[in-house]
Amino acid sequence: MDFALTKEQELIRKLSAQFAETELEPLAAEIDDTHVFPMDSFKKMAALGFTGIGVPKEYGGVGGGSMDEVIAVEEFAKKCMASAATLSIHLITPHILTALGTEAQKKKYLPRLTKGGEVAAFALTEPGAGSDAAGVKTTAVYDADTNSYILNGTKCFITGGSRASVLIVFAMTAPEKGTRGISAFIVEKDFPGFSVGKIENKMGLRGSETAELIFEDCRVPAENVVGKLGQGFKIAMQALDSARIGTGAQGLGIAEGAIDLSVKYMNKRVQFGKPIAALQGLQWYIADMATKTEAAKWMVYHAAYLHDIGKPFSMEAAMCKLNAAENARFVTNLALQIHGGYGYMHDYPLERMYRDAKITEIYEGTSEIHKVVISRAILGK
Ligand code: CAA
Repeated sequence: MDFALTKEQELIRKLSAQFAETELEPLAAEIDDTHVFPMDSFKKMAALGFTGIGVPKEYGGVGGGSMDEVIAVEEFAKKCMASAATLSIHLITPHILTALGTEAQKKKYLPRLTKGGEVAAFALTEPGAGSDAAGVKTTAVYDADTNSYILNGTKCFITGGSRASVLIVFAMTAPEKGTRGISAFIVEKDFPGFSVGKIENKMGLRGSETAELIFEDCRVPAENVVGKLGQGFKIAMQALDSARIGTGAQGLGIAEGAIDLSVKYMNKRVQFGKPIAALQGLQWYIADMATKTEAAKWMVYHAAYLHDIGKPFSMEAAMCKLNAAENARFVTNLALQIHGGYGYMHDYPLERMYRDAKITEIYEGTSEIHKVVISRAILGK
């Protein structure tokens, strides 16, 4: 088995780490306070090619695969989890279009979503369709006169939804067919009948805007159906399988970032006449944090590897996301504990990281849903 990164991946690691340190870390506290999505840094990500990872060069991307995405997201999450989430969730849409878009859809939308610096969003969740993603109530009714679909409904908790210019929206075209009646559509923000509703006030990940999206007789040309009619649920599930590796990378990166801060703090902070790094209780905390994070890392990398070599990876993606998310909460909690009163203060990054880490156990499928996916794969149920 070869666990080595390629030369290109080593370069992506270096570039991502530099970008995270110089561009993302200085903004992390500010965007958490202001709840404002940093459009400028997103455009810089695009200029450096991050938003084109996994997209062929002919459509404005930089090529590469799941491992390349993991490396970038991991490095970003060490310094600014909201930015890591922004990249990871943005990439879902260009990846769907790369895999399933028509030639015309790829030519029209991919350059905009890669080097063009426009934001994409993945609109699946609804007030009544969270873990039960099949409960989509948004409808899409075909209008033969205009050869278009008319969408009506509301999506909620959509990452980047307020900033997106291109969205993939899942809607029922044949409610009587259940999951086989859901279809996927490309919606542009300027389509009549589309509007952004409430922007959520969240516990964490505040620099990544989360929005309600409203469709009121929103007219979408038939040429904007992604894949075949009725394939929407499978498209969403496959997209989430890939995206969950990215969420695993977010959990991994934030844990690594919290360990880095803890090590620095333990060596600097003096109590009882010596650096607290000399206290065995805290040494054991660091040992546990590092050991579990190392395990999380290899699970995330392994899922990305399987994805990149074209092997089934749905269960491994669920496992790595479940584990990295639980570890992110475990590590940020202990890191905050190591920092004591300072960790609890808003002036220090730990309380933000603790709040940010929690979302990895909820979005892109809750931990409980991942246990459903994993147990079904093992038991064949
Ligand atoms: N890949 C391909 N096809 C899949 C699939 C997968 N991973 N999982 C299921 N399917 C297919 C099944 O094979 C089945 O196909 P047939 O009709 O041909 O038999 C069909 O989809 C229905 O499958 P299930 O019966 O298993 O569906 P279910 O209703 O029991 O749901 C679930 C399964 C795993 C619970 C699913 O609903 C799920 O993943 N829920 C969580 C949703 C989620 O992660 N939401 C996050 C939204 S995005 C977000 O959080 C943040 C953001 O902004 C992006």
